[in-house]
Amino acid sequence: MTEANTQPEVNIGLVGHVDHGKTTLVQALSGSWTDQHSEEMKRGISIRLGYADATFRRCPGVDEPECYTVDEECEDGSESDPIRTVSFVDAPGHETLMATMLSGASIMDGAVLVVSATEDVPQAQTEEHLMALDLIGIENIVIAQNKVDLVGRDRAVDNYEQIQEFVEGTVAEDAPIVPVSAQQEVNLDLLIDAIESEIPTPDRDPGESARMYAARSFDINRPGATAEDLKGGVVGGSLVSGELSVGDGLEIRPGREVDEEGQTEWRPLETTVRSLQAGNRDVETAHPGGLLGVGTGLDPSLTKGDALAGQVAGEPGTLPPTREEFEMEVDLLDRVVGKEDDESGESDIEEISTGEPLMLTVGTATTVGAVTSARDGECEVSLKRPVCAEEGAQIAINRRVGARWRLIGVGTLA
Ligand code: GTP
Repeated sequence: MTEANTQPEVNIGLVGHVDHGKTTLVQALSGSWTDQHSEEMKRGISIRLGYADATFRRCPGVDEPECYTVDEECEDGSESDPIRTVSFVDAPGHETLMATMLSGASIMDGAVLVVSATEDVPQAQTEEHLMALDLIGIENIVIAQNKVDLVGRDRAVDNYEQIQEFVEGTVAEDAPIVPVSAQQEVNLDLLIDAIESEIPTPDRDPGESARMYAARSFDINRPGATAEDLKGGVVGGSLVSGELSVGDGLEIRPGREVDEEGQTEWRPLETTVRSLQAGNRDVETAHPGGLLGVGTGLDPSLTKGDALAGQVAGEPGTLPPTREEFEMEVDLLDRVVGKEDDESGESDIEEISTGEPLMLTVGTATTVGAVTSARDGECEVSLKRPVCAEEGAQIAINRRVGARWRLIGVGTLA
């Protein structure tokens, strides 16, 4: 394969309830965790958003779907042909990490919803994650009915029907449901077949200006590194449009907060791309798909400890404005989804009111804002930390219900 097609070309979210088998499935498909950037980067990304690349392959002379595999060697000993490399974004299922799942949704081109056959449908995060895909508008979905090795045929059929009923009227209504065992590696060929037909690589225009959503940022220097060994700050995330090459200029917004004579202000950062890591190795040019590590000329203290997570990077002069407040059109859900039976708090969603705090996810940024004015279907918020976002951007709106933040609707930046 050439350099270009070993880079992943599409991001596929792995979503679903905790313990339903997302990590096991991604391991079965990718062989291992492949985000082998610096140790810090690897450690960091797998705690928050995990990316793992998998190359889907086809065994020559074998019919579909049996021809699909992730192994280089086919059963008859012949070599399989690579079709495309995809990047799985493993969103944590634990309820408190819903904000991370929503940040991940902004970089997903499609999703695999993992549902365990051993439990009734839907479990709390199965419902919540599907609702999030629905709200954010991720339409290319495949459902993996996992752990079928643990249940008998009747139970598997019942569970399959429960899944069908549950997705009725949602964005996943027509999504194929593929029974699999991630652990026993059963039916992975069928799953790859479904992903190949349901989650195509989006048409992209390499001429568009580069836009990257930062998910993490790092200082990769070891303590005590000497000045001449010191490496510039690294930003990790996904390109959503255009291409980025070594030597390109890079602007990052909102950038850094500067304090001048008691006045604080956010100033964009400007630097150049010094190195790029994509699809597991150093590249000269990167395109959308997968995790991209961008080595910059920034002072590493600016990128340390995820300081730039949630920010937007791209060609200088082309980024959307930094907003410390904005107005959005609001579309609320009918009821709170994903609540456990024993949880407190109202299930109906009331209108947003002036003064209330909201947690907003815009791109990969999550920020808290106070509502400064609320009218029917519209509201204005003032943010604790600004975001870089353009008109029309989708915003996931979360409200405190009981002990945690709950997804209550979606906003569109006016
Ligand atoms: P979080 O990342 O915590 O949300 O969980 P997860 O959805 O990634 O689940 P994980 O892959 O960690 O799997 C949870 C448990 O289920 C592990 O003990 C797995 O070994 C087991 N498991 C996953 N898939 C299967 C399967 O197909 N069959 C069986 N028998 N066990 C499975």
